[in-house]
Amino acid sequence: MSVLKITGGRSLEGSLRVQGAKNSALPLLAASVLTEGLSVFRNCPRLTDVAATVDILRHVGCRVYGEGDALYVDASGPISPEVPDELMGRMRSSVIFLGALLSRCGEVSLSLPGGCELGPRPVDLHLLALRALGAEVTEAGGRLCCRCARLRGGRIDLPSPSVGATENAMLAAVRARGNTVITGAAREPEIRDLQEYLRSCGALVTGAGSSVIRIRGVEKLGGGEKRIMPDRIAAATYLAACASAGGRVRLYDACPGDMVPVLQALRGMGCELRTGENLIMLERRGPLRSPGPVITRPHPGFPTDAQPPLMAAVLKAQGTTVMIETIFESRYRHVPALRSMGADIRTAGKTAVIRGVERLRGGEVHASDLRGGAALAVAALAAEGETVISGTEYMDRGYEDMAGALTALGAEACSE
Ligand code: UD1
Repeated sequence: MSVLKITGGRSLEGSLRVQGAKNSALPLLAASVLTEGLSVFRNCPRLTDVAATVDILRHVGCRVYGEGDALYVDASGPISPEVPDELMGRMRSSVIFLGALLSRCGEVSLSLPGGCELGPRPVDLHLLALRALGAEVTEAGGRLCCRCARLRGGRIDLPSPSVGATENAMLAAVRARGNTVITGAAREPEIRDLQEYLRSCGALVTGAGSSVIRIRGVEKLGGGEKRIMPDRIAAATYLAACASAGGRVRLYDACPGDMVPVLQALRGMGCELRTGENLIMLERRGPLRSPGPVITRPHPGFPTDAQPPLMAAVLKAQGTTVMIETIFESRYRHVPALRSMGADIRTAGKTAVIRGVERLRGGEVHASDLRGGAALAVAALAAEGETVISGTEYMDRGYEDMAGALTALGAEACSE
């Protein structure tokens, strides 16, 4: 089992290209099974979640190959609607295959995604969307079966803006007979990426990025192409890293326009930020202060995935920071490890109260989940001595070579 070793106390200085977005890559790859052609995805991040998605694509009958940072998916052959439990269990977001396989094959049988480290992750909104398009859904023995020879367009009113349910609804609707309107849709920028790819395949979709998405079903989709957008959560993590350690970093191939609340919080902490097209520069010289309350919300609010790294960056900030997590139930699992490093954090339900401390100390800590692991790395940069983070397999799901990225930014970090 590998570990990430970080020696704190060194300020950062360097520049880094932001990886392609995990949360865009996964739905895009799943969407490719809808097409009867060859799709190419550029700027594809090298992540274990992407590898797991590729294994599912191959299992159902796609040919997948890579070239540089591009992944090619040929879905022109026959596609099977069954995904083995082992493959489903490897990645929580595999539920995104539901809409795509149902639409392509007229049926699909998947095991429910396993219990999640962020608390229960229900799929009721995904099923509501598929039912609204005429799918017959049955659940038995932990498996979900959906059937419908040809989905028909309809109205899907999502009571809350689930990202995955919005994506599943879009994937199911693009080849349905007739028109679909999705209201209450999630507005995350990754959904815009999905729309752009689907349009390149011949789908008729508009509205992604707003809460109403309109789709006119088409009979067939051909192959398509997409350059995957920058990963705004990876970018937020490396900015939080610089806020924590001090110094100056420059992130290129970034998407500052999609990161407004994160940049605002970092500014509120006393960091100097400059943005250009695809560029973010952060400099932190003086002491940090609390950014004020941070409340996670669906986009365009503060993203839940950026909450753990930001929490790690405020551990030594002057004053008290209140964080309120409104999206997931168990999103403070990194707190005990941060406390073991000297942090003063109290949690009660959705709320965490962080009082700035003078010093953090390195030690042996275990990553509890993907973003929780990133939080430990951010804290380690500001801690005295060496921190050894185990459980890095979580981080590999979403961060392309975190040790390499931190080293490029001037940190003393290595993976062993
Ligand atoms: C996606 C992201 C994840 C991010 C999250 C919120 C991907 C691959 N993952 O996850 O990194 O943290 O958005 O921005 O893109 N819910 C229900 N019923 C459902 C579906 C969701 O109640 O059927 C609830 C969830 O429990 C959660 C909230 O809705 O409380 C948001 O979840 P959702 O937006 O669906 O997140 P994901 O798509 O799973």
